[in-house]
Amino acid sequence: MKITLRNSPEADIKADVLVIPLFEEQLPEIYTGLDVAAGNVISRIIGSKDFTGKLGQTMIIQASGINSERLLLAGLGKRKEITHEKIRRSGAKAFSAIDSLGLSTVAVSARIFKGLPGEHFLMKPAFYFLEGGLLGIYHYKKYKTADGREKTKKEIGAVSVLNDEARIDTAWLQAVVSATFFARDMVNAPSNDMTPSVIARIAKKITGKNLKVTVLDRRKIEKEKMCAYLSVSKGSDEPPKFIIIEYKNAKTRPVVLIGKTITFDSGGLDIKPGDGMEKMKYDMAGGGVVLAVMQAAAALNLQVNLIAILPAAENLIGGSASRPGDVVRTITGKTVEIISTDAEGRLTLADAIGYANKYMAPAAIIDMATLTGACNMAFGNEAIAMMGNDSQLMDRLKAASEEAYERVWPMPLFEEYGEYLKSDIADIKNVGGRKSALCSSAYFLKEFAGDTPWVHLDIAGAAWNDADRPYSPKGASGIGVRLLLNFFRKL
Ligand code: BES
Ligand code: ZN
Ligand code: ZN
Repeated sequence: MKITLRNSPEADIKADVLVIPLFEEQLPEIYTGLDVAAGNVISRIIGSKDFTGKLGQTMIIQASGINSERLLLAGLGKRKEITHEKIRRSGAKAFSAIDSLGLSTVAVSARIFKGLPGEHFLMKPAFYFLEGGLLGIYHYKKYKTADGREKTKKEIGAVSVLNDEARIDTAWLQAVVSATFFARDMVNAPSNDMTPSVIARIAKKITGKNLKVTVLDRRKIEKEKMCAYLSVSKGSDEPPKFIIIEYKNAKTRPVVLIGKTITFDSGGLDIKPGDGMEKMKYDMAGGGVVLAVMQAAAALNLQVNLIAILPAAENLIGGSASRPGDVVRTITGKTVEIISTDAEGRLTLADAIGYANKYMAPAAIIDMATLTGACNMAFGNEAIAMMGNDSQLMDRLKAASEEAYERVWPMPLFEEYGEYLKSDIADIKNVGGRKSALCSSAYFLKEFAGDTPWVHLDIAGAAWNDADRPYSPKGASGIGVRLLLNFFRKL
């Protein structure tokens, strides 16, 4: 999709639909010219109270007297109460109306956003309207064949932003939208088509300046003695792939992003209940998000040094599967007793964190993982649980998260959780008990991070929408993409 900035009178623009965002109650003077050209239709509708400008209200009118075929009025609510999230939601309602009509060229007037209280926003106000609008029109259609309407329906092809004095960052907009869609596509894909080998291939296809992709296969993983990670894939015929993506565009030490990439989590011999097991295709969401962030970083030519690691594996129950009680060695030398084969994510992450520390001299490690059902229980779809050993890094992630409205929420790493993880025969066990699952799982990772500044983001709740959300439809949310990109923008 093409997004362009244009400066010409609204009435002159030729589009399938011209979007006019409005605050509550009155038609501002800036639109008098347009209103007159359109035969006073806007002021009449506002006068009749059919359209009040309430947040999220939309109204489509067939227009005459102007070059666009239709007008779409979009309510922003009260001017004094505006937030960036309200602007996103207003944009989402507007674009969803446009999408369901199958219109293809869209013009959005940005005049109303001028002088808005919002100097503290990271982006310009009109940016959020487009961001919410475009993120919301995602559909995952890859496997639909018979649904003719869906297939033939036109999609939004070109968007112009009119008279935006603040000149929104269209490159950034384009990048966050396509990275979020890329992550959602990967996570929505069924596990039979999103195996570790497929993800390795997708990673290799990501092109861009300063990008380098390396994939360690089973033999090399054995050589590195990443046996905790290997133990997870033993029950599957799909070979593990340890995927490393480097993006070097700064001389600083790298920030290492590690994404949990379990392409399907059956639980292993500690098998999960059948009810809802199909959702465990999204256990690679951390990896999908991290990969999307790398692609966007390269597309935007960000001045950062980033490395992504995706320790990809499938957790099944074949004849060679790991057993509860098995002891495995990690790359750090630490041994782990596998209490539950369903606590597989932390086994893969422990080796990935160890690998990063051994070879990459990271300035910081950020891992993103659908790690615990407890996270889902605690937060529903609303937040990412955050734990780590570096409060400065966590504060910066929190600030970036608020601006993206991809909210992180801090949880504790009490020393006592170390006791929960004591094994009778190995250095540590992989489960600290049901009651502490969210915090003790992070504590397990902390034991492998060492002195490196490290933050763990548990996205088990937020990575998958159980129902449609304002600009994130049911299914994979792609949460984390904008959080991390904002974090690097502010760096
Ligand atoms: N992938 C799951 C966590 C999960 C559950 C993510 C539900 C999304 C939705 C993870 O591998 C897992 O099974 N964790 C166990 C850990 C337990 C055995 C300590 C869990 O949370 O039940
Ligand atoms: Zn599991
Ligand atoms: Zn899992």
